[in-house]
Amino acid sequence: MRESAAPHLLRIAFAAAVAWGCCTEPATAEDPPPGIAPCVSCHGPLGTPTDSSVPIIAGQNRDYLLQALRAYSNGGRTGGMADVMAGYAKGLAESELPAIADFYSKLKPVR
Ligand code: HEC
Repeated sequence: MRESAAPHLLRIAFAAAVAWGCCTEPATAEDPPPGIAPCVSCHGPLGTPTDSSVPIIAGQNRDYLLQALRAYSNGGRTGGMADVMAGYAKGLAESELPAIADFYSKLKPVR
């Protein structure tokens, strides 16, 4: 007789969710979300860029960062250097944005 795979799949889904950080504490400075790899070249590894034409995002409000990323991604932010950011924001999945906003909001801005 064939056993149902459902309980097994649920266990895998839960383990994966924990591994991806869904149900634990949000990211810390020691635990950068993988999606920020391309951001580092401009915003620096800790959200404080050396290029003064790039905004400091370390320590910025979490919700503001989230809204900004969504706006770049959906074309709601235009003008200035928004086009540069739009390309990178579109490269992120919506599900990655909260962890990224958490990560940068918890960093200390340094000049
Ligand atoms: C090529 C350089 C570059 C890269 C790579 C880059 N950014 Fe940016 N980012 C900028 C610039 C320039 C701006 C200002 C854009 C504008 O004028 O709206 C900006 C703006 C932002 C803002 C809005 C800040 C504010 O105060 O409103 C956020 C949030 C942000 N970037 C996050 C990211 C994230 C997350 C990534 C990686 C997925 C990333 N950036 C990759 C250059 C970059």
